[in-house]
Formats: sequence, C-alpha cells, structure tokens
Amino acid sequence: MTDGEDESGGETAVRRERFAGGPAREFLSSMAFDDRLFAADLAVDRAHVVMLAEREIVDDDDAGAILEALDDVADAGFEALPDGEDVHEAIETAVIDRVGPEGGRMHTARSRNDEVATCLRYEYRETLLDALETTVAAREALCEVAEAERETVMPGYTHLQPAQPTTVAHWALSYEAALARDTERLLAAYARTNRSPLGAAAFAGTPFEVDRERVAELLGFESVLDNSMDAVSTRDFLVEGTAAFAGLATTLSGLAEDLVVYANKGLVELDDDYASTSSIMPQKKNPDTLELVRSTAGDAYGGLQGLLTTLKGLPRAYNRDLQNASPHAWRVADDVVEATDVAAGAVATATWPADELEAAAGEGFSTATGVADLLAMCGLPFRTAHEVVAEAAERGADYDALNAACEDVLGEGIDTYADRETVEATLDPTASVASRDSAGGPAPKAVAETLAAALDGCATDTDRVGGLAADLEAARDALAAEVTTYA
Ligand code: ARG
Repeated sequence: MTDGEDESGGETAVRRERFAGGPAREFLSSMAFDDRLFAADLAVDRAHVVMLAEREIVDDDDAGAILEALDDVADAGFEALPDGEDVHEAIETAVIDRVGPEGGRMHTARSRNDEVATCLRYEYRETLLDALETTVAAREALCEVAEAERETVMPGYTHLQPAQPTTVAHWALSYEAALARDTERLLAAYARTNRSPLGAAAFAGTPFEVDRERVAELLGFESVLDNSMDAVSTRDFLVEGTAAFAGLATTLSGLAEDLVVYANKGLVELDDDYASTSSIMPQKKNPDTLELVRSTAGDAYGGLQGLLTTLKGLPRAYNRDLQNASPHAWRVADDVVEATDVAAGAVATATWPADELEAAAGEGFSTATGVADLLAMCGLPFRTAHEVVAEAAERGADYDALNAACEDVLGEGIDTYADRETVEATLDPTASVASRDSAGGPAPKAVAETLAAALDGCATDTDRVGGLAADLEAARDALAAEVTTYA
C-alpha cells in the first residue's frame, strides 16, 4: 500500500501510468492516516451510487454490482486495499478490480474534492459525538463528587493564597459549569459539521442531474452546503471543533492543576490507578495522570495553530494543503477525549479527607472577608470594615485581635456592632461557608440548587447527544436498507 513500490509501480485503474507517482509517491499519499476515513468513504460511496441509480444516471445493474463490490471491499478491510494516493482512490480501484470498467461509474458526477470533504464531516460527527459523551460523563462524575461532598469544607484560593473557605462540592460544580459550556461549543461545532458538501464535484458543480438533498439524507446530514466552491474549500468545521477541543483542554488543565496542588497539600487523595511512583524514590506517589492531562492543552493549542496555519491564505477552491489539515484535527480530538476520560476517572475515584480540609480551610485568616461582611451588615461602610479587619490581621485572627483593631481604627469596641458570639461564628469556616448562600455560592443550600440544575443539564445533554447518535444510526440503517434493494 504505502510501503514503497508495488509491482505495478503505482499504476492503478484510477491512477494511470503518467501520474503513478515517482519519487514523491509516499509524499503525495494520505494512506498513512486515511484508515480513519475508510468507513466514511464506503458510506459516502454507497449513498452516492444509490442516488445515481435513483436518478437513472447509473443503471440498477451497474449500481448493484458496485454496491456488492463495496460490501466486499468493506469485509476485506482497509489493510487489503490496493495502492492508491488516498483511501478514496484505493476504494474506487478496488471496486473496478472487482466489477471491471463499469465500476468506474461510481465516480460519475463527483470529485475527490467533494468526496473527501464529505468523508471528513461524516467521520468528524462521530468524533464529536464521542467527545460529547465523554464530556457529559465527566460532568456527571463532578456532580457525584458534589453530591457526596456537599458539606465538606475546604480552603478556596486566589493567587494560590488561602482566600475564603468553600466546599468540595462548590469546587466540583465550578468545573461542571465550565464543562457544560465546553459541551455547548462541541454541540455548536457538531451542528455546523453536519452539512453535506457532496454534489459540489471538483468545485464547479456537475451537468448531471444529481440530487444533493437525497445524498445528504442518506448520510444523515442535516442540510447541504449550497455554494459548491465553498463546499469543497472550507474546513472551518474542523477549526470550530478543534477550537472547542482547545477550550475543553483548557478547562481540564485547570482541573488537573487544582488536583495536583491539592494532592501536594494533602487535601485530596488520588486513587493509585491515577498516580504513579518513582523509579528511585520508593516513598513517592505522584499525580502523573493529571500532569499529563494538564499538558494536553499544549498539544491542543499546537494542533489548532497547525490547522489554522495550514488553512491560512489558501486560494479557492481545492488545494492539496487540505490533506494535511485534518490530521491536526484528529490528533487534537483524540488527545483531548482521552484526557477528558482520564480526568473524569481521577475525579470519580479521589477521596477528600474532611478533617484535613476543614483545618486547612481556616488557615491564613480565610474568614476575614466574612468578618468584614458582618461589620458592614451591622452598619459600617464596607471599606471601613475592610480596614478594621486588615488591621486585625496584623495581630491575629481571633476576637481579641478584631476588638483591638476596632478600638484602634474606630475608637470603639467591636461590640458596638456585633456581640462576641456572632463575631466568633464568622471566624468558623463551616459557619462562614453556610452564611454565603447567595445564588451559586458555596453554602450547602445554594450548592443543592446548583447541583440540581447541573444534573438537569447533564440529563438534557445526554438526551441531545443520544438523539444525534440515534439520527446517525437511523441514517445508517436506512442507507443499508436502500443498498439491499439493489442486491
Ligand atoms: N486525499 C486528499 C485530501 O485529503 C483528497 C484528494 C483530492 N485530491 C486532489 N488532488 N484533488 O485532501
């Protein structure tokens, strides 16, 4: 196949002697990464041939023979394909090898340009659906953590400095929310991927009376890309999808980094399955899987950059540069989906040591904001309350320090504003969290509402993704049924 010279020197039914490929044959070939398009191309070929027969562009006998040959090619598998510049050409050659010259009618009214563009979209739909399922599963894993750790108080950080106490549930749902938006972006990319270029031919349409809508329907596409020059030229659906993956990878990198930091502080215990050890230091348990998840964002940005740079400034309509565009998209998708799955597994199996978390939650006068809020609620301007608590922070984080600071700054005791019991309650991390019950806040009551909405969102998206997968399945069945009528 791609491994050097074959006996015919590269000459096939499709690629006659003149363009059999000389020294640059391997360089020209996309066979090394075209196995990903094998199933897509067979589907596209079948749908196209069915449409050609329905339109009486190819007679039923020839269509039947081609469709039978395609089944045989499918059974033999990608590895059995004859030599070819790409999978499209190799499959056509394989059909002609089986059917004879009449097999060449399958390429009537199309070009490899609309063919490859259609195959890429057909396959990318599956890739996006897989990503969507994996992303929703990660959200569900975060919801489960939120459910189990609704009241588990933990330190919250800004600038990686202790900032305010929060809960593990609040932390987990912060990433669920981000992944929900990543899901929206993948769904949007899916919608714009799900359009059929077929029938555009090389770029300038065809004199045959093709039915573009019918081919789109047979392949489960939502609609047709109208302008035939645009249809073969554009890879913007890959840009959009890859950008969505880069965004998803960014979310994952933050999640991974948090877990690496928390593991470092003893605030989370990763399951051994998601950790590794050192080949020399026997005591080590390292968060390697999460470090690799964190690094995936770098690969994704590199892939997006590679894709965009490949596409930049290409003239209309088809240029062979496009052959090197899609591998960026496959690589990014595969890497990010795998990282999503691993991150979800790490989250689902981690344990949260409640006592350590609560102790850490109170460190660094993390309840200071709550005290300032209390003083402001008792009538002091917030800025003045901030000044009092900042002054207290220099001395300590208890009632006496606050009272002394109040006297210094305001010339009166803190009991002018709130009694000792109320002030001391604000210094308790658990009470501090419970008081912050504004919508979307960490108080268990507020988190319960966020969690309910998140679970609803997961269920809705599961239905959506299931519906899209079912549409593809139905189209596959309908095409298979159509094909059997030519047997
Ligand atoms: N393998 C090519 C690609 O991936 C498709 C072939 C179109 N080739 C051409 N020379 N018009 O883009």
